[in-house]
Formats: sequence, C-alpha cells, structure tokens
Amino acid sequence: MDLSEAIRTRQSIRAFKPDPVSPELLREILEQALRAPSWANTQPWEFAVATGKPLEEIREEFLRRSTTSPSPDVARPSEFPPRYAARIRVLDKQNRLVTSKDWESRRTQNFRHYGAPAVIYLLTGREFYYQTKGPNGWALYDCGAVIQNIALLATGHGLGTIIQAQAAAYPSVLREKLSIPESKIVLLGIAIGYPDWEDPINQFRTDREPLDSISTWHGF
Ligand SMILES: Cc1cc2nc3c(=O)[nH]c(=O)nc-3n(C[C@H](O)[C@H](O)[C@H](O)COP(=O)(O)O)c2cc1C
Repeated sequence: MDLSEAIRTRQSIRAFKPDPVSPELLREILEQALRAPSWANTQPWEFAVATGKPLEEIREEFLRRSTTSPSPDVARPSEFPPRYAARIRVLDKQNRLVTSKDWESRRTQNFRHYGAPAVIYLLTGREFYYQTKGPNGWALYDCGAVIQNIALLATGHGLGTIIQAQAAAYPSVLREKLSIPESKIVLLGIAIGYPDWEDPINQFRTDREPLDSISTWHGF
C-alpha cells in the first residue's frame, strides 16, 4: 500500500477480530516507526507492548476503576472553546448513530481497548517531560510523529489501530502490571489488531474541516 492510500484509509478502529497479531509483525512496525523525527534526535518515545494475560488483567482492572476519576500522567484538556466543542459534538453524534442503544457498553469498551488483541503503551521519561519551566510539549510532538507512523504502518499491513487517551487513564495499573518504573510516564495506548469490518462502529468516517477554512496562503 502506498503512503497516500494508507493516510486516506486509516481510521480509528473500535471493534477488532480476536485474531492475535504476531510479535514479529509488531516488532517490524515499531522498528520502522522509530524513523520518526524528534527534537535534536532525542527520541523521547518508549513502548510497553502487551497482549494475553497481562492485557486481560489490565482490562479487568480498568473496568473496575471505570467509575472513578481518571488520573493520567499527562493532564487531559479541560476546556473546549466552541469551535472544538462543536467538532466533538459531531463525533459523538456519529458514534451514537451507529451504536444506538449500545452506547453505554461502547463507553465501557473504551476501557477494554475495544477488545484489541494487543496494545502498545507509549511512555516517555518523567524528567524529560516535567521540566522545571513547565511540561515539555515538544516531546509530545515527537511522540505524535511516532504514533502516526505506527498507525499508518499498521494500516499498510491490514491492521487497525485506535489511539487511546483512555488507555492511560489509570497509569498506576499499567505501572504494576507492566513493571513501568516511576521514572517513566504513560502518554497513551495504541490498541492494535485486525479490524472487524462487520461491526457498524467501524463503518463511519469522521469529517475534516475544508483546507480553505483552516489555512492562509502568502506570497504565491
Ligand atoms: C491523542 C488521542 C487520544 C485519543 N483517545 C481516544 C480514546 O480514548 N478513545 C477513543 O475512542 N478514541 C480516541 N481517539 C481517537 C479520536 O477520537 C479519532 O482519532 C478522531 O475522532 C478522528 O477519527 P479517525 O481517527 O477515525 O480519523 C484519540 C485520538 C488521539 C489522537
């Protein structure tokens, strides 16, 4: 699959087949994804990859905690000015349309990584992110590049992904189950597996604002 097709066809996948993803394929994807650019080649990303028993235990523990407030290592946005809130409302509406009465169980599914057979948790160094002058947002740009690489490479292999803030909602659980030291923080999880295309949740595409409404051009 060429790059344009991968970019065009990638979408968040929220229902997976139970088929496992081989560790060889996951390694191949991650090895290639590491070519992402980063601030002065600092490469602030690290991964904890889980499947099988540890992942099941994480799912169970996340579900148990799902009624309590999340305590992520990186604070979530708490304010959404109108133009952003409007886009979230469109997404929620699309989601609800395809999931209808099943909405509550879909919310729960988020905590279960939508049943994906594997999850790549993205970590970074605590000291590199929490700097004396405030959080180092630049490290997150770098991690974003590696995340997109993973998602596109996975698409090229017929896999689906969903990037999940929710997967990092309770980092203490991940620390315990995956032996993540305090010196690292958990940014998010990328659930990965073979998409279940029969499920309606995978059958809608999100919109994008037209380029002309979000760009200005100068000197052409
Ligand atoms: C940083 C980040 C965190 C996200 N967290 C979640 C999440 O916790 N649960 C979820 O269902 N989708 C999550 N998403 C997926 C977005 O909702 C999705 O990318 C967006 O609606 C655009 O849809 P698309 O990926 O299908 O193009 C996240 C995406 C990003 C980039």
